[in-house]
Amino acid sequence: MSKHLRHPLGRAVLVLLGAYVLIEFGIAYLPPLFGIPSGPVPDTVLFQYLGTVVVGILIWVSDNETRWSEFKAPLHKVMVEPEKKRARLALAVIIPALVGLMTFNQVKPSMAAPATLRSIHPAPPGQIDFKGETMELAGLENPLRATGSMEEHYESGREIYVKNCMACHGDGLAGRGHYALGFNPGPASFQDVGTIAQLTESYVFWRVAKGGPGLPNEGAPWNSAMPSWEDFLTEEEIWSVIIFMYEQAGHEPRTWEEEGEH
Ligand code: HEC
Repeated sequence: MSKHLRHPLGRAVLVLLGAYVLIEFGIAYLPPLFGIPSGPVPDTVLFQYLGTVVVGILIWVSDNETRWSEFKAPLHKVMVEPEKKRARLALAVIIPALVGLMTFNQVKPSMAAPATLRSIHPAPPGQIDFKGETMELAGLENPLRATGSMEEHYESGREIYVKNCMACHGDGLAGRGHYALGFNPGPASFQDVGTIAQLTESYVFWRVAKGGPGLPNEGAPWNSAMPSWEDFLTEEEIWSVIIFMYEQAGHEPRTWEEEGEH
């Protein structure tokens, strides 16, 4: 072993390995011991530094004629002499395989979600087209609050919620339904003060009726899994599920007077 380490090729490999360990781990872990902040070394920097070390090693081995021929001898043997055929074949497989592996690692698609900013509550349209009829959103109140019994509206809203919304928005209305983990952005939590609690009922109506496909372009991409319920629910059914959501989550809808304040 010590014979190999005294050989110029052995030393060159040793210096290269030492340099790798020092750059990859030394830079990240040594300065913090002295209270100096540091962090992982980017691969591009690592390769640049290692490149410099390789140049230094080549200068050292070629600086002296005997050391240079000693350094080259094993390489020459493996690449030319007939009795080293096996080693040569092995290298001819291993080196391209390593390069292939590195290339694969670089180009393989990453599963990480892209960092995108989206505006959670884009401005609603002034009016929408609901099942062929134009509906003014501005100033619109939930008509069910003025007719019939709130208990009945709540009951029918609850049924609609359980059948249609629970799988995503969850039984606790906290956005933790069975399907929730599959979606990014995840289903809204109606318990959260940042959702229905700060919206008017007409806004919620618009979101329920038009869903993800009805979101305006600002802040795109939306990737919202929220279905457009106008294809499945009547106008009254949507108003009643909205009553259920506010009652159940214990929030008051934002009023149009508040809306005018800002
Ligand atoms: C397939 C899953 C899924 C189902 C089913 C679903 N939603 Fe959603 N919903 C979402 C996702 C995801 C979001 C968040 C993205 C967005 O705002 O579009 C969302 C957002 C919302 C919002 C917007 C909240 C806000 O703060 O802007 C409302 C309101 C809403 N859903 C109501 C409902 C109602 C009512 C039902 C049932 C009639 C329902 N959802 C069914 C996935 C779903």
